[in-house]
Amino acid sequence: MTGNNAWIWRAAHPKLSGVKRPMQANILFQNDEHMVLTFTDLVTGEGIQSNQMVIVQEGHSAIFDPGGDLTYMPLSMAVAKYVKIKDIDYVIASHQDPDIISSLDKWLMYSDAKIVVSRLWERFVPHLVPGYMKEKAEGRMVAIPDQGMYIPMGHSVIKAIPAHFLHSVGNFHFYDPISKILFSGDVGASMVDKHPERPVQDFDRHIPKMQDFHERYMVSNKVCRLWAKMVRKMDVEIIVPQHGRPFQGKAMIGKFLDWFETLECGIDKLTPYHYRVPQSHREKINEENEEKENPLPLLSSV
Ligand SMILES: [Fe+2]
Ligand SMILES: [Fe+2]
Repeated sequence: MTGNNAWIWRAAHPKLSGVKRPMQANILFQNDEHMVLTFTDLVTGEGIQSNQMVIVQEGHSAIFDPGGDLTYMPLSMAVAKYVKIKDIDYVIASHQDPDIISSLDKWLMYSDAKIVVSRLWERFVPHLVPGYMKEKAEGRMVAIPDQGMYIPMGHSVIKAIPAHFLHSVGNFHFYDPISKILFSGDVGASMVDKHPERPVQDFDRHIPKMQDFHERYMVSNKVCRLWAKMVRKMDVEIIVPQHGRPFQGKAMIGKFLDWFETLECGIDKLTPYHYRVPQSHREKINEENEEKENPLPLLSSV
């Protein structure tokens, strides 16, 4: 931590009228002109806990993985404390999932933001928008090529970092070179009961909160290794996943990379057992008897 730069964990509770519960903005980094925020408590009800990240720099701003209808209203109200919704430069999606970008219609309607997503999803995500709004999307989609790109913002950039098949076929993570924060989408996601805003303290105790999700949602160990090798060459101070707790500091990030690059997951764990035509009751009983004699491994479930 040097000069004016500061990696900090500070919670701000905007008191916005009409909001039933406090919306906590976690300020991860702040200097005179640059701020990185996350929101961790905006999804309520059945939806999976999700983190949304926001970068604000001298009148410019970007929102990462804003989520779906469940989050649009509380997120837009919370973000409005820092930047006018109309003025947001970018709504950036790591991939195409519903918890990532299904609020697209709202962002198109209420902001002038460009929508940034993998070129593989550029022509699919507009399906999230009702027909009468099609023209709102015209000229506003920015397709990220497979090799990634620099996204200009203010006097800096946001780097779109390839993360294909982790888990989506066209998938990117986003690196802010000023704060040295890497927003890692579903990589590093954890299912925690409380305080998703707090950095991981005890890595070994945190593993069970990540294991099943990564074993099922990440495609293979090969891509985990390729990604980890790339990230080791980067200067990262905090990894912020889209679900659960962040990893802060080189030592903790190193532990995460060590775990991730040895993870057996996705297709590594598949066998012919996972590709069988569903059976009748009688066939099932026969097979269960067979399995008792010859047990086969199951895919982990989330
Ligand atoms: Fe996802
Ligand atoms: Fe997700």
